[in-house]
Amino acid sequence: MKVLVTGGTGYIGSHTCVELLNNNFDVAIIDNLSNSSIEVISRIYKITGKKPIFYNTDICNLNELNCIFDKEKFDAVIHFAALKSISESVSEPLKYYTNNVFGTVNVCEAIKRNGVKNIVLSSSAAVYGINSGKAIKENAALLPHNPYGRTKLIQEQIITDFANTNKIGYVILRYFNPIGAHKSGLIGENPLGEPSNLMPYISQVASGRLKKLNVFGNDYNTHDGTGVRDYIHVMDLALGHINALKKLLDIPEYKLICNIGSGHGYSVLDMIKSFESVTGIKINFGYAKRRAGDIDICLADTELAQKELGWKTSYNINDMCADEWNWQKLNPKGFLS
Ligand code: UD1
Repeated sequence: MKVLVTGGTGYIGSHTCVELLNNNFDVAIIDNLSNSSIEVISRIYKITGKKPIFYNTDICNLNELNCIFDKEKFDAVIHFAALKSISESVSEPLKYYTNNVFGTVNVCEAIKRNGVKNIVLSSSAAVYGINSGKAIKENAALLPHNPYGRTKLIQEQIITDFANTNKIGYVILRYFNPIGAHKSGLIGENPLGEPSNLMPYISQVASGRLKKLNVFGNDYNTHDGTGVRDYIHVMDLALGHINALKKLLDIPEYKLICNIGSGHGYSVLDMIKSFESVTGIKINFGYAKRRAGDIDICLADTELAQKELGWKTSYNINDMCADEWNWQKLNPKGFLS
């Protein structure tokens, strides 16, 4: 079985490629390397002993996509390639609509032309609106409050409309907060510039690359006043894609949209404490005002993923912090080191 992974050198894509290769799938990656490094390919090889086929191609280039599809004859596509910074999506919305929406239309065009029958889409909890603090079910209101989230919702709609009329199976995975890294420390999250997400920020403060973590708000309606999120180990997330793919290959025209989270909530202070206890390193932090657009609690209801995909998380919060630190410690400058 040959699987195309768009965005396969990115954070989640690279970990998923490792699990695909471990599960004996043939893997081809398309990535324009706009937010990743070619070094990832040799790291994947070091971990798995197998090298994925790599195309340095932008999904916005339909001619090139078609050539690759014609040549490789894929059985399934896992579509990660997208821009993902919420703040950048606010300042440059058109860039997000072009890459995420137009790019997805192109991937569907190539799928249609070549008769591929299975697609897994990388989506996000960002498609949900502001919630009540309870675990979010998949049928909750979809009211994304930033352009990034809106492009993810449009991607979902493109895939479902396209799949329904073309007899294609799909699984759309709405990720909560992926963190951590492969236990080898060879691949991990490699943000360009100052990180905007919590865990890369904490680990770069620990390594001395950044001076101090700002905790955005301590007056939220949570157990300690700081924001609560559903963190999930990136290797658990990678396995979620394998289960989704196997289900698609087993059941023709299978259709599912489901949350990928742990169902457990941890505050910013919980994350700092866990990181400190696992690493023995004190994190220099101070309180700052709330970050625009942040909410009190964002937590997944995980029942559907368990029932449909037979999937649930296996790593705990200490594992996530340990693996995040291992990656950061071994690669203080990301893939440049
Ligand atoms: C957002 C998206 C989520 C996406 C994730 C990773 C929403 C609702 N969620 O999550 O879909 O998977 O980004 O791209 O759009 N924090 C600090 N200091 C920092 C950074 C963060 O205190 O320097 C706090 C935040 O206020 C929040 C928590 O840490 O309470 C997690 O923030 P972050 O890692 O940025 O993820 P989200 O915004 O929850």
